[in-house]
Parts: sequence; structure tokens; C-alpha cells
Amino acid sequence: MTAQQTIEIRPMLLADVDRIILIEREIFLFPWSPGNFSDSIKAGYACHVLQQADTLMGYGIMMMSPEEGHILTLGIAASYQKKGLGKKLLQFLIQSAREQNAKSVFLDVRESNHGAALLYKQMGFQHIATRKGYYPAMCGREDALVMRLML
Ligand SMILES: CC(C)(COP(=O)(O)OP(=O)(O)OC[C@H]1O[C@@H](n2cnc3c(N)ncnc32)[C@H](O)[C@@H]1OP(=O)(O)O)[C@@H](O)C(=O)NCCC(=O)NCCS
Repeated sequence: MTAQQTIEIRPMLLADVDRIILIEREIFLFPWSPGNFSDSIKAGYACHVLQQADTLMGYGIMMMSPEEGHILTLGIAASYQKKGLGKKLLQFLIQSAREQNAKSVFLDVRESNHGAALLYKQMGFQHIATRKGYYPAMCGREDALVMRLML
């Protein structure tokens, strides 16, 4: 990344899905399908990508209901992780929920995903519930931690 090229967060387009899927398959053991992304765009969810010049580095999707935002996915390409980009995208999603007068933002995270959970805690999310066996895992199922940020 060079200082001259600004990092932009912009709405996700159907044309981005092919590039997103490459990142998705690189960073998630149980990746979303292309249809999951295109359906989210078509459903009008808040779908955004983080890009610098021509390089798509990450993406996030949030479903809004009148009082709540639900972050459905957040991903940063492996080679761009741990440079503050996940935090930047998360801050953007939180701010956009705030601007739509949401009172809280929810998300689910795998119990084993300590890095992501740390980021969420750092942003003020609190663990409020556990969904037992919510996610598929290599050996059986894994719990999801339900986290909430009050706005
Ligand atoms: C989780 C993810 C979105 C974080 O994005 P990122 O750009 O790598 O994270 P950032 O650089 O913005 O990190 C911000 C903070 O999160 C925490 N954090 C992020 N990744 C971490 C890791 N692997 N280990 C420990 N802490 C981590 C740290 O507290 C960090 O703050 P610090 O830099 O002051 O220490 C990204 O690593 C990713 O896409 N991972 C794979 C997919 C995934 O797990 N998505 C989330 C599903 S719920």
C-alpha cells in the first residue's frame, strides 16, 4: 500500500462478486457461495468493498432492520490483514447503522476466531449470548458467540 493511493469504501457491485469469492475462499474454511453475495446485493443489504486503486482488499455486509444492524460477514484478504483495514471497514458499517438511527449492531463470531472477537471487543461489542453448534466445523459443529454493540 502506498500513501498516495487512498483506500476507498464503496458499495459492492455484482461485478465484484468474482473477485470477492477468491478472497472468501482464501480466508474462510466454510466460504459463502457467489449466490450468497449476489443475493445480498439484490436484497438491498448494506454491501461494501474496501479498495485501493484496482485492488479489492476486503468486504463487509450488514442487514438493517428498523432498530438494528446485523453484520453478516466481514473479510479482509489474507495479505492485507492486521493493517487496520478490518477495523476501518467495521467502523464504516457501525457509522452507517448509526446514521440510520439503529440502536444496536449485532454479529455472530465463531468461538475459535479469537482475532475477530478481539477486534469486535476493541470496538465495544459485548458477548451477550451463545448459539450452541451454530457453525459447521472440521470436526462436528462449533458455537457462535452473539455480540452486540449499543449505539
Ligand atoms: C477478522 C478480520 C476481519 C480483521 O481484519 P484485520 O484488517 O486483519 O484487522 P485489523 O488490522 O483492523 O485489527 C484491528 C484489531 O483487531 C484485533 N485483531 C485482528 N486480527 C487479529 C488476529 N489475527 N489476532 C489477534 N488480534 C487481532 C487486534 O486487536 C487489532 O488491533 P491492534 O492492531 O491494535 O492489535 C480479518 O482478519 C479477516 O478477514 N479474517 C478472516 C475472516 C474472518 O474471520 N472474518 C470475521 C468473521 S466474524
